[in-house]
Amino acid sequence: MSFPKQGMSKDEVARGLEAKREGDAEWQKGKTFSLVYNAGEDVMAVAKDAYLRFFSENALNPMAFPSLRRFERDVVKMVGGLFGGPDGFAGTLTSGGTESLLMAVKSAREHAKATRPGVTKPEMVVPITIHPAVEKAAHYFGVKAVHAPLRDDFRVDPKKAMELVTDQTILMMGSAPAYPHGVVDPIEELAGFAKERGLLFHVDACVGGMLLPWLERLGRKIPAWDFRVPGVTSISADLHKYGYTAKGASTVIYRSRELRRFQHFVYTDWPGGIYASPSVTGTRPGGPIAAAWAVLNYLGEDGYLRIARQTLDATNQLIEGISAIPGLRVMGRPDATIFAFTSDEVDVFMLGEAMGARGWKVDRQQLPAALHLMVTPGHLAVAGQFLADLRECTEHLRTTKPVAEGSAAMYGMLATFPDRTALEPMILDFMDGFETME
Ligand SMILES: Cc1ncc(COP(=O)(O)O)c(C=O)c1O
Repeated sequence: MSFPKQGMSKDEVARGLEAKREGDAEWQKGKTFSLVYNAGEDVMAVAKDAYLRFFSENALNPMAFPSLRRFERDVVKMVGGLFGGPDGFAGTLTSGGTESLLMAVKSAREHAKATRPGVTKPEMVVPITIHPAVEKAAHYFGVKAVHAPLRDDFRVDPKKAMELVTDQTILMMGSAPAYPHGVVDPIEELAGFAKERGLLFHVDACVGGMLLPWLERLGRKIPAWDFRVPGVTSISADLHKYGYTAKGASTVIYRSRELRRFQHFVYTDWPGGIYASPSVTGTRPGGPIAAAWAVLNYLGEDGYLRIARQTLDATNQLIEGISAIPGLRVMGRPDATIFAFTSDEVDVFMLGEAMGARGWKVDRQQLPAALHLMVTPGHLAVAGQFLADLRECTEHLRTTKPVAEGSAAMYGMLATFPDRTALEPMILDFMDGFETME
């Protein structure tokens, strides 16, 4: 498509937009298990209204828009309070989990520069299940990520993590929970050790931050993970996941304002004026910030508890149902409402394909091969149908034992490819191919 010579009418534009939707995942029907977090039309309407009201405003300059400054301050206070933030905690709204994690790593690097002159090649010890945004941060900021293995319960092995700490370690991390298996790492043990050794400790609660506090209040036993654990120095928690706000909203919160200062960027010699920016982005869209404030206030504790109850009910139903299907096995004991399941009897990638043919979009995992579900309240209504389809598809594969072909074969190949570094150029080629893909 070349640049249009003449503009279209509003109606033509709208039709063009809708026409391009063909093939999109149908999240509205509860058939997807990632990417979209939907707590109902009313919540979405509140988010959209707030988003549009502040569609044009820009938090790059908080002096120009005190509204956005106030929203941000309120949201950070609300969320940090939920995490047991001590007096003086401070945070920032970012565009998403990735930016929050980038900031946590960048702050740790600056902190080490200021306080640990012996550190010349900074390292961080992270579980192998830590989100790849941390690998991105390692790549961008020159902090080496050293990976600690898991125990049999899919939580990081704290002893092994501690053994990986060197005189160059500046930061340790754990997840609450980690995305692949929905389990919370042993944060108390790890953060206690980090504190003793004078290291920073970040908890990636991007997916769980707006969920675990409610599950705990509903009586579920959640391993301690937030600022109530003394060694935890920062937490990332997304609002656009289980906070159900508009996309483009996450928080990164530090135990103290002093720690947050290492995140900030200031440049004083630009002819365009003094430039000060708290995070990665320059322009900071007002929409997601206003929507975050709106949804947190709209739902309040009672709203989030109600939604968490539904999500937990759907999760329990799915976990019980999957565990009862011969040949399938849920991995570990998930703390949150995301989990993975696998099989020793059927090819799970073929199972993913078979479910896909019935309209269910289930994410694939590797090392080992598994399918992944991230449950939201909308899944309560469709859990029965999902389980019935899953049972049928599994049974069919168990009895017919077909040879993997098509994308199931491709997933299988990628998951077991022995030389992982050789995969990178293949994936880069695949990304280039998006340009020509219909
Ligand atoms: C545990 C965890 N951390 C970080 C992220 C990254 O968040 P985002 O995709 O908003 O950048 C995710 C995304 O799923 C996640 O599950």
